Amino acid sequence: MKQIDRLRSLGLFDARVPRYTSYPTAPVFSPAVGAAQQAQALAALDPSVPVSVYLHIPFCERLCWFCACRTQGTQSLSPVEHYIDVLEQELALLKPILPQGLRMGRMHWGGGTPTILPPHLIHRLARAVRAVIPPTEAHEFSVEIDPTLVDRDKIAALAQEGMNRASLGIQDFDPMVQKAIGRMQPHDVTRACVEDLRAAGITSLNADLVYGLPHQDIARLDDTISKVLDLDPDRVALFGYAHVPWVAKRQQLIDEAALPGETDRHGLAVHAAARLIGAGQSAIGIDHFAKPADNLARAAQSGHLRRNFQGYTDDTCPTLIGLGASSISRLPTGYVQNAPATAAYMQRIQAGELPGARGHMMQGDDLLRGRAIEMLMCDFRLDRAALRQAFGPQAATLDATLATLAARYGDLVTLDETALTIHPEGRPLTRIIASAFDAHVPDGIRYSQAS
Ligand SMILES: C[S@@+](CC[C@H](N)C(=O)[O-])C[C@H]1O[C@@H](n2cnc3c(N)ncnc32)[C@H](O)[C@@H]1O
Ligand code: SF4
Repeated sequence: MKQIDRLRSLGLFDARVPRYTSYPTAPVFSPAVGAAQQAQALAALDPSVPVSVYLHIPFCERLCWFCACRTQGTQSLSPVEHYIDVLEQELALLKPILPQGLRMGRMHWGGGTPTILPPHLIHRLARAVRAVIPPTEAHEFSVEIDPTLVDRDKIAALAQEGMNRASLGIQDFDPMVQKAIGRMQPHDVTRACVEDLRAAGITSLNADLVYGLPHQDIARLDDTISKVLDLDPDRVALFGYAHVPWVAKRQQLIDEAALPGETDRHGLAVHAAARLIGAGQSAIGIDHFAKPADNLARAAQSGHLRRNFQGYTDDTCPTLIGLGASSISRLPTGYVQNAPATAAYMQRIQAGELPGARGHMMQGDDLLRGRAIEMLMCDFRLDRAALRQAFGPQAATLDATLATLAARYGDLVTLDETALTIHPEGRPLTRIIASAFDAHVPDGIRYSQAS
C-alpha cells in the first residue's frame, strides 16, 4: 500500500482531533470553574517562580475570511481605547491578589492584532503590566504583528517597551490565494516591515504560514516559501488551514470548491516542510521550524520543548497568567479562561470581579495524561521512564493504551519498556495518536482535520 493510502486508512483525513495546545482542551472547560478558583490559585502562587503573561487584543482593522482567531473588526480606535482602560482595571484587580515579589519571565501579546494599538496605548499597556508584575532581567517579550497594520512609530514604541521577538502574519504571498482568503498583503509591505523591525533592533523574527488555503498549489506555495526564506526568519510556523465555518462564521466566505483536496493538502505540507528543512531550518514538533541556533530548536534538541496556547515554546515558566477577553490562564491547580466574549469580559471587570468564566481543575490522572500528550506533540516520543519517575505507579494506567497503539500503528511506531516512539513516516498521525490518551473527549464538539 502506498504511504499516503496507509495514512488515510489510519484516519489521517477523517479524524477530527484537537491540536492539544492544552490538556484538557478548552472546549471541555466547565462553567463550574471561574473567578473563585482563579483568585485562589493566583494568591497561592510561589513569588520566587517567574510567571508568563499572555495578553489578548481582540480587535482587527480588517477581518480575514480564513481566520479562526477570537477577534472583532473596528475602524475606530474608541473601542480599543475603552478595552485598554478595562485591561488596566483587570490588572488593578489582580494586584492585591498576587503575592508580593512575583516577577514576569515572559510576555506575549496576541490577538486579533496587537499592532492596532497606537504608540501611546502600547506604552500605557506595557507600563500597566509592569507596574503589577515587574519583569525579570532575562525577560522575553513577543508580539503578533500584522505587517499591514504597523508602522515605524509603533515598532519603536514596542521596542522601547522591551519587545525582543516579533511574530509576523504572512499566510501566503500569492495574490490569488490572498484574494480568496480576504487578506491582501503585498510582499513589499511585509519586506519593509521586516526591515523596520530589524532596524529597531528586533533580532528574533517568526513568520506564520498556512497551507491548505484556497487555490494553493505546489508552485504557488513554493514561491511563497522562497519569498519567506528571503526574509530570513528565525522561526516559521506552518499551520494547516483549520476550516471550521461552524465556529468561525467568516469562513463561510471561503469558496470550499477552491480548497485543495486531502491528498493535495498533504502534498503541500510535505513540500513546504522539505523546502524549509532544505534551507537549513530544523523541524520542530508537528508544524514549526527554526534555525538550529534558535532557542526553540535548542529546546527541541535537548528535550525541553513545551506546548502552550501559542503553540511550541521553550518557555519554562510553569504558570501562565492570561489577561483580556478569552485569555486562558494555566495555574498550578488547573486552567481558567476569562469570559470569552469581549462585552461579557468587560462587564465582569467593570463590576469589580475577576473575569474567570470557565475552566478545569486538574484531578485524577489529568496531569499524567497531559504530560504524555505533550511529550508526543513535542518529541514524537512518550518517555515511559520519565513518566514513571514523575508519576510513580499511576504511569502504568497508560499501559493498555500503549499496547493498543503499538498493535494499531505497527511499524510506524516502536514500543518498548522505555518509550513509545513515533517514526518519521508516522508523524502526520501524531495528533490522532496523542488523542488516544485523551480521557475528556467531549460530546458534540467538531475539531478541524488532523492533517
Ligand atoms: C491571531 S493571528 C495574529 C496575526 C495578525 N493579526 C496578522 O493577521 O498578521 C495568529 C495566526 O493564526 C493563524 N491562523 C488564524 N486562523 C487560522 C486558521 N483558520 N487555520 C490555521 N491557522 C490560522 C495565522 O497563521 C495567523 O497568523
Ligand atoms: S489573521 Fe490577523 S488580521 Fe486577519 S482576522 Fe485574524 S487576527 Fe485579524
